[in-house]
Amino acid sequence: MERELAIEITRVTEVAALASARWVGRGKKIPADQAATSAMRMMFDSVNMSGTVVIGEGEKDEAPMLYIGEKLGRGAPYPEVDVAVDPLEGTRLVAKGYSNALAVVAVADRGNLLHAPDMYMDKIAVGPRAKGKIHIDDPVEKTLKIVAEANGKHVQDLTVMILERERHQEKIAALRQAGVRVRLIGDGDVGAAIATALDETGIDLLIGSGGAPEGVIAAAALKCLGGDMQGRLLPKNEAEYQRCVQMGLKDPHQVLYMNDLAKGDDAIFAATGVTDGELLKGVRFLSGDRAETHSIVMRAKTGTIRRVQAIHYLPGKPHLIME
Ligand code: FBP
Repeated sequence: MERELAIEITRVTEVAALASARWVGRGKKIPADQAATSAMRMMFDSVNMSGTVVIGEGEKDEAPMLYIGEKLGRGAPYPEVDVAVDPLEGTRLVAKGYSNALAVVAVADRGNLLHAPDMYMDKIAVGPRAKGKIHIDDPVEKTLKIVAEANGKHVQDLTVMILERERHQEKIAALRQAGVRVRLIGDGDVGAAIATALDETGIDLLIGSGGAPEGVIAAAALKCLGGDMQGRLLPKNEAEYQRCVQMGLKDPHQVLYMNDLAKGDDAIFAATGVTDGELLKGVRFLSGDRAETHSIVMRAKTGTIRRVQAIHYLPGKPHLIME
C-alpha cells in the first residue's frame, strides 16, 4: 500500500464525521448513519486505490452504498486493497448526543481482512504490553492477573471496558468481584478496543461480545498500535452458522487470532471523532461556516501514529450541508 493512502483515508473519515455531526442529539440514528455513509462514499471516489468493501453497511441487496463487494477508489493501476468501513460507529450515541461516536475506516492489502458476517463476536483486546499473553478462553480472573502484571499495575487498579448489555451480566459480576474498575459503555467497542493500546486513556482491557464487523476493524487498528485482539464468532442459529462455513471457517467457533482477523504486517486505520470521546474530540462547528475535526491515523508497517486536527471551510464541501 502507498503511504499516501493514510492521509487520503483520513479525509474520508473526516467528511463522514462532519456529515453525521449535524445529527448529534436529534434523536435519529438512521439519518445520522446515512449522512456519514453518503459523505464517506463520495470521498472514496477520489482515493488512489482499487478498493473492495469487505466490511460495510450490509450485503448488496440491503445497502444502497458501501455494500460488501462494492468497488471503491480510482481503480487500476492503484493497489488492490480490502476496505472495512463503519461510517458511524455509535449510531445511538449520535442520536442521543452521547460521547465516543467515531467515523472509522481500515484498509489492508487485498485478501487480508476477515470477511466477518454481521453477527456477534466475543472479543478480548489489550495493549502492546499484554500482547501474546492473553487468551479469550481464560477465565476473567486469570486474564486480569495477566494484564495487571503486564501493565505493571495491581489488579484493583485496572480499568476494564465492557458494553453494558444484559448478556454481559455474568462477566460484569466477575469483574466487580475481582475488584477492578469497570467502565460500562453504551456503544462503541471499536474505540474501547483501541483505547487499551493508548496509555493516555488508562484503559487496560476490553472484553465481551459486540459486532463481528467491528471486531475486524478494531483488530486492524490494534495491529497498527502493536496491541492484541482475539475473537470468536457467535452464530445464533443454523443460518448464521452456515454463513461462517461459507466464508471459509472450518469451525465457526474457532478462536480468531489477530492474524485471522487482519492478516499480514500492514494495515492502515483512520478514525475521526463525531462526538467527544476517550480517543478523540468530536466535531466542533465554528463561526464563519467552519468546522474542526480531530482524527487519528496509523499504519501497522511503520508504526506511525498521527493525530490530525483540521479546520474545514464548509461551503467548500456543499454535500455536507444539511437541509
Ligand atoms: P452501531 O453504530 O452500528 O449502532 O454499533 C454500535 C455498537 O455498540 C458497536 O460498537 C458494537 O460492536 C455493537 O453495536 C454491539 O451490538 P449490540 O448493540 O447489539 O449489543
